[in-house]
Formats: sequence, structure tokens, C-alpha cells
Amino acid sequence: MESAADKTCLEARGIWKVFGSKSDQAVELSRDGASRKEVLEATGCTVGVKDVSMAVTRGETFVVMGLSGSGKSTLVRCLARLTDPTAGSVFLDGEDLTAMDEAALRQVRRQKLSMVFQHFGLFPHRTVIDNAAYGLEIQKMAKAERHERASAVLAEVGLEGYEHHYPGQLSGGMQQRVGLARALTVDPEILFFDEPFSALDPLIRRDMQDQLLDLQHTLQRTIVFITHDFAEAIKLGDRIAIMKDGVFDQVGTASQLITSPATDYVREFTEDVPKIKVLTAGDVMQTQTTSGTRSVPASATVESLLPLLLEGDDPIGVSDADGRTVGVVDRNAVTQILASAR
Ligand SMILES: Nc1ncnc2c1ncn2[C@@H]1O[C@H](COP(=O)(O)OP(=O)(O)OP(=O)(O)O)[C@@H](O)[C@H]1O
Ligand SMILES: [Mg+2]
Repeated sequence: MESAADKTCLEARGIWKVFGSKSDQAVELSRDGASRKEVLEATGCTVGVKDVSMAVTRGETFVVMGLSGSGKSTLVRCLARLTDPTAGSVFLDGEDLTAMDEAALRQVRRQKLSMVFQHFGLFPHRTVIDNAAYGLEIQKMAKAERHERASAVLAEVGLEGYEHHYPGQLSGGMQQRVGLARALTVDPEILFFDEPFSALDPLIRRDMQDQLLDLQHTLQRTIVFITHDFAEAIKLGDRIAIMKDGVFDQVGTASQLITSPATDYVREFTEDVPKIKVLTAGDVMQTQTTSGTRSVPASATVESLLPLLLEGDDPIGVSDADGRTVGVVDRNAVTQILASAR
């Protein structure tokens, strides 16, 4: 059997990132409870990330969400070791990235991790296929082979036929598909996304989210995804970390954040979420093993229960993946959720 350590792809322990020359003093003050602003006033240093620990399971999409300036990009840069954390360690597949020398790190960056940024970062004078194949090129893979691989990935992201175009000839959404293809061609262990869809129109953005979900369905990569959009976080994330002033206020599934927000900051994000679309029968059921008249899977949304209740099924049985009854949802529970919507 796999141990917990095998299942963890990425782990961060006590990550700090302080900008400024008096970082030791800043960490000390911050540890003692000084706010970001107080630390800045006393030391001239900005605490970007404050003592963040996290573990991302293999195949999981872990979303970090928070307002501008909360430290999301700084954290992801530490995780991918694009920058050195002031303190703390990052382990990828059990290997300490923070202890690696430049050569070892370069190797890991080329083979195990990919990043996709908000501003695509494509090479304007390279064709689509040469952009997509870039990671393989620096691995020194022969041209025919890397083009073959890149073509296949470009087809997967819906860019078949555009291989020999230049980025400037493509729309924003298409350029970001090239960015996605470039990240995927190296077949990375883990993908880091820093607000990749934030610059796109809402409809294109939704397309890209759907496509990422589709891809993830087959690829099952480990993903760390940064966003400031809670709807996007809910749609893509297996778990979501809500970040504020450099720390995680709360980490949990969308349902956990919505049903029991740990802070006012978390509550503010969750307030406008259409709860009946996010919460499931499993989230709102009362546990019991005798069923109602009809039965739904625990993953069914509360919204999908409404027609059944209207048809007079009350309570509705809830079954697990093996078809065993695990609980019931009654009209009262659903009414309460509807009433709590604003
Ligand atoms: N290179 C830097 N030098 C000094 N301060 C920095 C640097 N990079 C980030 N900061 C500061 O660290 C804090 C966190 O910034 P960060 O870019 O990580 O936020 P973010 O959550 O990604 O915001 P956004 O949603 O706007 O991208 C901010 O106060 C920022 O000003
Ligand atoms: Mg950012």
C-alpha cells in the first residue's frame, strides 16, 4: 500500500518570504504578532509570505485564492523555487528543493515542474510549435521528436492547424492554450498556474477552465492554481486555501469553506456563492442507514434535489459510491439552504 508520504507530491514547511534587508528582524517581529504594517514601519521590510505550511496530494488541484497583495504569487514562486524563501523548506517528491544547488534545481525545473502565468510569456519570434516544444528543446530532445510530442499536445488543447502561426497572430485565449501546451509537453510532475485565465474575457475564461478540467480528468496532474476568483476556485479546486496578509486563513473543500468559514474574510468570499449549486447531498444529509423513498448519490447537488422534493419525495435517501444508504436529506434541510442564500 502507498504510504501518506508517497501520496504527497509537494510539501511546504514553514515558508517565509520577506522583502527587504532586515529580514531576520522582520521575521522575529512578525512571529511575535506584529502586523504586516507594523513590521513594515519598524523594519522597512514587507512580509510577503508568513510561515505557510501545506501538503498537496498527487493528482490534486490545490487552489490558493486571495485578494491582490495577499502573497499568492510570492508563495507560488517560493514553491517552484523561482525565488529563495527567507525561511522554510519545499519538498517535491520528498526531495528538498530548498537544499538543492543550481545544477540540481535546473534539472528539476526542466523535468518535473511547469509554470503558466497570467501574461502568457510566449516567445514572439517562435512559431506555436516551437513555443510549445521549448521545454523539450532545452532538454536537448531532437527536433522531429519534440515536434511530434508538441503537435500531439497542441491537438489536445485545441490548436491543431496553428502549429506554424506566430503568437501575435492568435487571440489571447489561443495564446494561453499555447502556454498550457508548453507546460504540458515536458510531462511535468507538478504544474503551477498563477492566475492564468485572469486576463481573458469571461466566456473564453470559462472555456479554458472547462478545458483544464477535461485535461485534468485524463492527465491527473498535481496542480497548484492561483486565482482571486472564488467561483474559479470552486470550479477547479479539490481544496482551496484562502490567503490573507501572507497567511492561510483556512484550507478546505469548497463545501467546508461555505458551511463553516473560519474567519470573516473567508465568509465574505463565500457569501455570494450559489450554495445549492455547490453543496451536495452528502454535505447536507443527516446520517442514517434507512432510506427514504428515492435515493441519490452523495455527490448530487442540492439543486438537483429540488425536483424530487417537488414531486413529493421527502426525505430523499443518500447513497455512497457502493450504493449503500448513508443518510437522508429532507425538505427542511433544503429550505434552510435556500433561505440562507442572499
Ligand atoms: N520583489 C518584491 N519586492 C518587494 N515587495 C514585494 C515583491 N514582490 C511582492 N512584494 C510584496 O509582497 C506582497 C505580496 O505580493 P504578491 O505579488 O505575492 O501578491 P499577490 O497575492 O500575488 O497579488 P496579485 O493578486 O495582485 O497578483 C505585496 O505586498 C507586494 O507588494
Ligand atoms: Mg500575483
